[in-house]
Amino acid sequence: MRVALARQLAGIDSVELGELPDPSPAAGQVLIRVRGAGVGLWDVGFLNGGFPGIALPFVPGQEVAGVAEAAGAGARVQPGERVYATLFPAGGGFGELALASADQVAPVPESATFQEAAGLVISAGTAYEGLVDRGRLQAGETVLITAAAGGVGSAAVQIAVAQGARVLGVASPGNHEYLRGLGASEVFDYHAADWVQQARAVVPGGVDLLLDGAGSQTRDQAIGAVRDGGRALFIVLQGSPPQLERGITGESFAAHGGRQRLEALSRLVDAGKLRPQVEAVFPLEQARAALARVAGRHTRGKIVLQMGE
Ligand SMILES: NC(=O)c1ccc[n+]([C@@H]2O[C@H](COP(=O)([O-])OP(=O)(O)OC[C@H]3O[C@@H](n4cnc5c(N)ncnc54)[C@H](OP(=O)(O)O)[C@@H]3O)[C@@H](O)[C@H]2O)c1
Repeated sequence: MRVALARQLAGIDSVELGELPDPSPAAGQVLIRVRGAGVGLWDVGFLNGGFPGIALPFVPGQEVAGVAEAAGAGARVQPGERVYATLFPAGGGFGELALASADQVAPVPESATFQEAAGLVISAGTAYEGLVDRGRLQAGETVLITAAAGGVGSAAVQIAVAQGARVLGVASPGNHEYLRGLGASEVFDYHAADWVQQARAVVPGGVDLLLDGAGSQTRDQAIGAVRDGGRALFIVLQGSPPQLERGITGESFAAHGGRQRLEALSRLVDAGKLRPQVEAVFPLEQARAALARVAGRHTRGKIVLQMGE
């Protein structure tokens, strides 16, 4: 099978096209003929050596959609099923065939293309885990979402709206109309020194929940927009831990994925409440260019690789 692989973990430039033997599924695994693979900052992190214990050669790609080709014993997936899956942390998505653990596989949303579905797996999955499963966002609550135009943020804004929440989004001005189109009620520019005061002017008591995808300075500022006793969730795991005060409770988490969360995403997509946002689709041959685009940290929605037709 054709793959994009790295023979050493020396950044994006170490990715090249190559051939590897077709894998075959062991018990509990599903072999997927990949039609779309999401590209994320995590792929850049793997290629920079940010995750220890990675076997070489390494095939990036932690989220895919495609057609189940074969299933090992005990896997509740039929060959021919249209599926999407997380491959974290083994990777392998940047190739024509990928192995997934069956408990990380679910049918794709009926209304989504393979490329759209692939781009939902980690980003929308993380947004759902943060807002719904951990944040327990309720109808009528206010939520502040930073990095709101990105892969996670674009899904988070829509999932929060679907929960009945009022959404405040943070992004550059060029993305403000985009965020309103996704359902954000108010939008703020993190480049403005007083953006938290602007948010406080709109929600004087402070927001109930923060989902931070920005990290660093924007994260620290955003905590100031949370109400006393509010909740905060952090997904950028690098850097110093967030300092919480005023009775705010919070956690940093690494998303877990799983079949049930993918099924929940499929229901939202097929109900028209979560529209996949794909900025650009690249062929496998341009995996390096796709990774470079993501590394720039200003993509709107997702960058996805397409394999096959
Ligand atoms: N913990 C987990 O399980 C988990 C899962 C997924 C992702 N993540 C992490 O979460 C973060 C977001 O992921 P993503 O895929 O959504 O990233 P992304 O698509 O690259 O996010 C792009 C967004 O980030 C904003 N942004 C860029 N630099 C910023 C800055 N200095 N201050 C504030 N906002 C900034 C951009 O704003 P503008 O373009 O509007 O300027 C844009 O809205 C990444 O660090 C990623 O590694 C963690």
